[in-house]
Amino acid sequence: MEIKLAENHGFCYGVKRAVEIATEASNEPGRSYTLGPIIHNPQVVDKLKNRGVSPIEEVSDISEGTMIIRSHGVGPEIYKEAEEKGLHVLDATCPHVKKAQMDAKSVIEDGMTLVILGEKNHPEVKSINLWAKNKGIIIEDEKNAENLQVVEKMGVVVQTTFSQFKFNSIIGVLEKKSKNLKVFKTICNATQERQNSAVDLAREVDLMIVVGGKNSGNTNRLAEVCRDVGCTTYHIETSAEIQLAWFENVQTVGVTAGASTPDWIIKEVIETMKEFEELLAAAGQEDFKKGNVVNGTVVQVEDER
Ligand code: F3S
Repeated sequence: MEIKLAENHGFCYGVKRAVEIATEASNEPGRSYTLGPIIHNPQVVDKLKNRGVSPIEEVSDISEGTMIIRSHGVGPEIYKEAEEKGLHVLDATCPHVKKAQMDAKSVIEDGMTLVILGEKNHPEVKSINLWAKNKGIIIEDEKNAENLQVVEKMGVVVQTTFSQFKFNSIIGVLEKKSKNLKVFKTICNATQERQNSAVDLAREVDLMIVVGGKNSGNTNRLAEVCRDVGCTTYHIETSAEIQLAWFENVQTVGVTAGASTPDWIIKEVIETMKEFEELLAAAGQEDFKKGNVVNGTVVQVEDER
């Protein structure tokens, strides 16, 4: 069985930076907290908790210590609130998100109508809008765009993980809504690159394993695009979920991971699959077919002689 890793997989720049900032904070004296889980990966969040960096829900949950802002970013009020309480703030907002926030702010300051392309309830989109005094109109699809009024001047900012395909088609609609359309293309390539690599790999292998938090939107999307090209796909969080039965008659397995999946989890998954491969080779496909291999263990091996 051949195991192939997608060309682009795992931590993106912004997530890697946020986890590094939180890990460094854990080495400093005093308590540290992340405002919300630092990333959508429960194993990383638990690891940080064990090192003394715990998630909080609101700034009001703490009265001292270091507060880390995660890569999705927050609105200006949160910085103010933290400053008033005398908290030490470490800002792990991804620089791509920070740029989108500042672009949204400038659109409002320049007196234009602000349109934000993105998911209404996503924390990043909320944070972008907060920098624009919540004056942005959030557009999720072409239909929302069709319903907009025609305006004199319009500035468009985009959620960093927004689909390029949807972006192109929505901009086509918005061009009819304002003669003065200024587009800030704030899409980050990391998500698209991971999806493209996953699709390329899913087309050439018998089975795809997608590794990442079940609560991670971008990991779920990776599993979806692999299934869309007709490849049998399993989405797992850790190596403990892998089942030997998945590999029956499988020659090639592709592995990819969401932008919030750390390398150590991907490594564990590959190691486990290699162990299964050895087990399968030792037991032989015949035992496998007869049901003699259960949860990674060879049982009741029949004498073939
Ligand atoms: Fe930043 Fe792009 Fe990752 S916006 S957090 S580098 S997906």
